[in-house]
Amino acid sequence: MSSLTETLVIDTLKSVDSGTAGLDIVARGWVKNVHIKDGRVIFALEVPASMGPKLEPVRLAAENAIKQLSGVTAVTAVLTAEARRAPTAPQPGPASGVPAPRERLALPTVKHIVAVASGKGGVGKSTTAVNLAVALARLGKKVALFDADIYGPSVPRLTGLAGQKPMSDGKRVTPLEAHGIKVMSIGFMMAEDTPVVWRGPMVMGALEQMLRDVDWGDLDVMVVDMPPGTGDTQLTMSQRVPLAGAVIVSTPQDIALIDARKGLGMFRKVEVPILGLIENMSYYICPNCNHRDEIFSHGGAHRTADQLGVDFLGEIPLDIKIRMTSDAGTPVAVSEPDGPHAGAYIEIAKRLWDKLSSGRRKAPEISVRGSLEEK
Ligand SMILES: Nc1ncnc2c1ncn2[C@@H]1O[C@H](COP(=O)(O)OP(=O)(O)OP(=O)(O)O)[C@@H](O)[C@H]1O
Ligand SMILES: [Mg+2]
Repeated sequence: MSSLTETLVIDTLKSVDSGTAGLDIVARGWVKNVHIKDGRVIFALEVPASMGPKLEPVRLAAENAIKQLSGVTAVTAVLTAEARRAPTAPQPGPASGVPAPRERLALPTVKHIVAVASGKGGVGKSTTAVNLAVALARLGKKVALFDADIYGPSVPRLTGLAGQKPMSDGKRVTPLEAHGIKVMSIGFMMAEDTPVVWRGPMVMGALEQMLRDVDWGDLDVMVVDMPPGTGDTQLTMSQRVPLAGAVIVSTPQDIALIDARKGLGMFRKVEVPILGLIENMSYYICPNCNHRDEIFSHGGAHRTADQLGVDFLGEIPLDIKIRMTSDAGTPVAVSEPDGPHAGAYIEIAKRLWDKLSSGRRKAPEISVRGSLEEK
């Protein structure tokens, strides 16, 4: 497989016509960021923004050309706009009075799309997203989990699907399934340890392509696992995807540090409704004596939610079982469906579904216009 090199990929792409000026896509300078790992090839076609919508056939031709190479097991070509967009610069959007650059993606078969987000990393977004998705499915809903964390996708591992690949007929991708939910992640396209350097336009291209090309079927809810912070993914998701709203996950300590408020401010800024706050790692129940310990002065999220005028959706205890079941790919909502943790996720899922189905969401009431960047 060592014969599959970047040079070979680029040479092969010289056979793909750009459809303009009689030049191939390499000669036009469109081919960028070629990554090859274990037979999987990912590259970007960075094209002028105005041409983007017309170039889907060129993208497909590029993928097909690379598929023919020996040793290739999967190809992803991402169409991205050339436009430079620094994540720290003020972004156009409804709140800034400037219209979003392009209209939102149409996902007509998906009723509600919910982003699970936080201002800070490691607070349990992915763990919450997976368990919440499973809990919603247990309530009888048709659910998908979409991993928008293209920098560090953890959904394949958390769902037990690591190493598997979604099927594709060359046009549409069939999502994988686990524990009664459909699952899609860029992690299925690359090895877990592949560091990928995504620039702004590539982030947008990759997310949009995954959302557009996957055959989601009819869904009641799509739960989106977001990366930490307030960068390109958050902007793409909020500006280009018809989000029903965002759920903000926080630990009691972060509440003290107001990281959750930052995440909240970011979504409010782009006028995405906040569906509510979840306090994770909220309290500890001793497995031996069932004593409940309020480590880290739990309850801060509830108070903060009240202060900020958003709903409090519930709290999840700190428990090694939650971590171990996640690591094993069988989230606690599946592995102990009648246990107290699954119960906590089910309660949150019920409240969330109630809000989604009744359209009862608090409109953004205060405008937080801080920096989009983390401190
Ligand atoms: N309630 C909990 N009890 C015990 N461990 C937990 C709990 N929630 C999450 N964890 C553990 O904390 C770690 C971080 O969780 P997770 O990956 O879900 O966070 P994240 O916010 O998605 O992180 P990132 O910002 O890196 O995407 C993991 O090891 C996870 O198993
Ligand atoms: Mg995560």
